[in-house]
Amino acid sequence: MRFTIKVWRQKGPESKGALKEYKVKDISDDMSFLEMIDVLNNQLIESGDDPIAFDHDCREGICGMCSMYINGRAHGPGEGITTCQLHMRSFQDGDTIYIEPWRAKAFPIVKDLVVDRSAFDRIIESGGFVSVNTSGNTQDANALPIPKDDADNAFDAATCIGCGACVATCKNASAMLFVSAKVSQLALLPQGQVERKDRVINMVKQMDDEGFGNCSNTGACEVECPKGISLENIARMNREFLAASVSSKD
Ligand code: SF4
Ligand code: FES
Repeated sequence: MRFTIKVWRQKGPESKGALKEYKVKDISDDMSFLEMIDVLNNQLIESGDDPIAFDHDCREGICGMCSMYINGRAHGPGEGITTCQLHMRSFQDGDTIYIEPWRAKAFPIVKDLVVDRSAFDRIIESGGFVSVNTSGNTQDANALPIPKDDADNAFDAATCIGCGACVATCKNASAMLFVSAKVSQLALLPQGQVERKDRVINMVKQMDDEGFGNCSNTGACEVECPKGISLENIARMNREFLAASVSSKD
């Protein structure tokens, strides 16, 4: 297969970026989208050009690094997959493909397709943890019975890989789906009860401080989330926040 690739090139955070056009050929339909960029980058290196900077790590849908907009959609066409799980057979031979970085004030561009998502790390640091002393007295995981529905809902929330597609897709660049998944995952489990109130207050505050927008219930985040994180988590986080705010005033 051969493609015309129009990709965002930007030398650095302060530089002016632009879409640049490249031709790429000898692409197998079994290649992943990232492997296609690898081929294009080899081409660029051989011709003395700067390769396209993009984030990637696991290349199997786990790490959430391969964030990019493809033909106007976060992680490209296809449901429930990350860019590294997207195959070139999803496109037609001869297609023109547009590739852009995530666009959000809280995710500044570092170079080309690489954006700085450390805002997510700071939100996790503000409350996305449990303080459990595990030194020398580790309990068997099954020693603490957990209702099946709670375990299932917590596990579903825990599948969020922090990719940021929800932010990039949202017209308000809201991080509510990500933050609500992290809040829900711990609020539903007995291990998460100690910091439950502080967690939601602190994580929401950090989210606001980072400059993410508000949720206006459009639902685009849920549609484009590669892990199918449900909007129900946002409703749960709002309830958690309200309850924590009321009790902190008592
Ligand atoms: S909620 Fe979904 S889209 Fe948002 S960071 Fe988590 S996995 Fe990615
Ligand atoms: S490279 Fe890890 S999810 Fe795509």
